[in-house]
Amino acid sequence: MRVAAPTRLEDEMAMMARAVDRQFDLLLAAPDDQRARLYEAMRHAGIGGGKRMRPLLVKASCDLFNVSEESAARAGLAVECIHVYSLVHDDLPAMDNDDIRRGKPTVHRAYDEATAILAGDCLHDLAYAILVDERTHPDPFARCELVKALALASGPAGMAGGQMMDLVAETSSFDLATITRLQQLKTGALIGFCVEAGAIMARVKEEGRHSLRGYARDLGLAFQIADDLLDVEGSAEITGKAVGKDAAAGKGTFVSLMGVERARDQARMLVEQAKEHLSGFGTQADLLRDIADFAILRSH
Ligand code: IPE
Ligand code: IPE
Ligand code: MG
Ligand code: MG
Ligand code: MG
Repeated sequence: MRVAAPTRLEDEMAMMARAVDRQFDLLLAAPDDQRARLYEAMRHAGIGGGKRMRPLLVKASCDLFNVSEESAARAGLAVECIHVYSLVHDDLPAMDNDDIRRGKPTVHRAYDEATAILAGDCLHDLAYAILVDERTHPDPFARCELVKALALASGPAGMAGGQMMDLVAETSSFDLATITRLQQLKTGALIGFCVEAGAIMARVKEEGRHSLRGYARDLGLAFQIADDLLDVEGSAEITGKAVGKDAAAGKGTFVSLMGVERARDQARMLVEQAKEHLSGFGTQADLLRDIADFAILRSH
């Protein structure tokens, strides 16, 4: 895997990382009372580290339709809240029992399990509080659609459902079709929301969203195959999280089923296919194209 991202994308990612850190910092000022520990745990989870690929995808989809920067930033922060909550809970002893995340101790290690559960819950709540605020979008119908789409992408028919299948994958052997479905829910659904967010806020009709959905579907799968490859081939130092966990848990993944080479070929093919879905868009879709390339070239 190549380590460097294209410079243009690197700049965009660095800018987004700073913006997300700043927004979390403003939103999560710890109060001077007994709740301070909860806010500190949320800050620990939300600030510092993380590729911020989901907020960047929201920005990229907003760029296609000239959605305002503030709308893009707020919808991006909301999805990052859901993502971070999912990571905090994913790392808990009851799930993956991990000690490091984004190069730091996991929240339950830095604080305690009960605080980590509450911090995850509250990041989840924060996501919707951000979306329903008028500053996210002036049109209440657009805000409602964002809420509905994010709720569907996060719940049992999306990320959480995929996490359930992932737990079951430790004790049963899944075929490729079932693994594909698992990954589409666990990782793909939230990525799908990010890509659709721009279309929702621009009030693009159903028929105008097909190509974006195709892009998101292929990107989501490629991104998760890359995550599974990093679990096999990556290092904890560079990824900022433990590696070798999937095989140790006996978990079925694309890599365990297809082997490293075929999984890598599949991811490459999916990225090409993802970019083909963008053929109807001009240079305004370049950020989406760069993100697709990065999804599998990344080293972390
Ligand atoms: C990790 O996501 C979990 C998956 C869904 C594969 P990321 O690789 O986007 O993690 P961060 O946000 O950069 O830490
Ligand atoms: C978790 O998948 C994806 C989530 C929805 C949180 P993994 O368990 O593979 O993610 P990592 O490898 O710990 O980041
Ligand atoms: Mg997991
Ligand atoms: Mg995990
Ligand atoms: Mg993983």
